[in-house]
Amino acid sequence: MTDMLQGPASFAGGTPTLVGDGVRLREYQDDDVGLVRMAASDPYIPLVTTVPTNPGDRDVTAYIERQRGRARAGEGYQWVVEETSFQTPVGQIGVTWHDLGDASVGYWIASPFRRRGFAKAALRAVVSWAAASQLARLNLFVEPWNEDSWRVAEAVGFEREAVEPEAIRVGGEVHEGYIYALQLRISRQSTNA
Ligand SMILES: CC(C)(COP(=O)(O)OP(=O)(O)OC[C@H]1O[C@@H](n2cnc3c(N)ncnc32)[C@H](O)[C@@H]1OP(=O)(O)O)[C@@H](O)C(=O)NCCC(=O)NCCS
Repeated sequence: MTDMLQGPASFAGGTPTLVGDGVRLREYQDDDVGLVRMAASDPYIPLVTTVPTNPGDRDVTAYIERQRGRARAGEGYQWVVEETSFQTPVGQIGVTWHDLGDASVGYWIASPFRRRGFAKAALRAVVSWAAASQLARLNLFVEPWNEDSWRVAEAVGFEREAVEPEAIRVGGEVHEGYIYALQLRISRQSTNA
């Protein structure tokens, strides 16, 4: 008998609110415009996300609506990372489902809020949630030069599994990347005797 772990269909519905060390992860709100504008002015974030460069009001609103829509479409969850002292939005973290219990993770923190542990705390909160959600494995793709990012992943327990020549889409190009993974279950299917 095969005991299938939960797949994407099990996560239909609203984005759950998660709490971590000094952070709260919540669904995007209409007034997260300032956060998106900060990300839009970053030299790297728009290259690896759908954050628009030099956005007008309608582009920002469309971006926010797209993030909320990913849960409705059953593609994954995109959370705003909010620091808990002043409830300031500082970044974004998301998971995108793949098949058989795999999901990939991506995150960014707006530059004024970096190096304060927010990415690490947010990723830890997502890992705890993923483990409780029966996901089997989380993947992360990082460019080798992006030490800030892979240090965060390693601090939370991800392991570097491989270097792939064509791992990440950056702007219009495909770049080399490290494949990081965190195994949450021994296997994606378990067979009971
Ligand atoms: C990558 C990014 C999310 C990191 O965010 P951050 O909030 O600065 O990360 P944190 O402050 O949580 O750092 C977590 C840990 O990594 C450590 N760290 C971060 N960068 C480091 C570096 N270059 N060298 C050594 N340690 C580093 C921190 O010291 C911290 O550990 P500690 O709390 O034990 O001291 C942020 O730089 C970013 O948004 N970059 C642009 C977008 C991006 O590259 N996203 C990832 C795409 S794969």
